[in-house]
Amino acid sequence: MNLKIPKHLAIILDGNGRWATKKGLPRTFGHKAGIEAVKSTVENAKEIGIKVLSFFAFSTENWKRDKLEVDAIFDILRNYIKDNENEYLSKNIKLVTMGDLTKLPNDLFCKFEELKEKTKANDGLIVNIGLNYGGRDELARAFNQMIKDGKKSVTANDIKEYLYTCDLPDPDFIIRTSGEQRLSNFMLYQCAYSEFYFPKVLWPDFNKKHLMKAIKVYSKRDRRFGGINKEKK
Ligand code: IPE
Ligand code: IPE
Ligand code: MG
Repeated sequence: MNLKIPKHLAIILDGNGRWATKKGLPRTFGHKAGIEAVKSTVENAKEIGIKVLSFFAFSTENWKRDKLEVDAIFDILRNYIKDNENEYLSKNIKLVTMGDLTKLPNDLFCKFEELKEKTKANDGLIVNIGLNYGGRDELARAFNQMIKDGKKSVTANDIKEYLYTCDLPDPDFIIRTSGEQRLSNFMLYQCAYSEFYFPKVLWPDFNKKHLMKAIKVYSKRDRRFGGINKEKK
């Protein structure tokens, strides 16, 4: 079978809490295990030639969770940056983010900004992490910025230019793990023509086998973008 590799794969990583609860562990253990799946997915995505890999790591609504859990997630992200800095630098990976990171603990915000700066000239895989990210917030921010810039009317392309993801192609393929079938405020504008896939696997268990299965599913999709695929008619 001819595999079609999405240029931009976006992942709503879900099921960390359930993974831990099923094992009788505190939810934070699920987040720890989840970050390992992030690491391996970065490697696997690079290997198969994906150009942009987005992860939804923390939403604008996730602040509703217990402070202990939120703090644990931030701690795990701190360690992720520390442990993976060399990987990003040595493997030509560029880190970008989407969301309002200024609301994160200041040291974590600075760590992300530092690694983004250090990897900005890398032209291998782009890893885009959604942190304090919400699609509605992103759109409100974009419109406010356009008002400030004195725009009296806007085109669809103007809107794209004002999103966090202005330099990225739209996601071709969006995977949400854990069986939930919703976007939860993820890339609302960018997903207009994305293909969706909702495997049951909980995020910490997501491995190369699951990724390749997903790519096979994507490869069979007939993307028409409103037109007609004459070959298949
Ligand atoms: C995804 O896993 C990670 C974040 C949203 C930060 P969850 O923590 O949402 O896991 P479940 O959905 O409770 O199992
Ligand atoms: C979506 O997962 C957000 C992230 C993956 C960061 P949630 O677990 O927060 O979403 P809901 O609450 O089930 O919709
Ligand atoms: Mg969840």
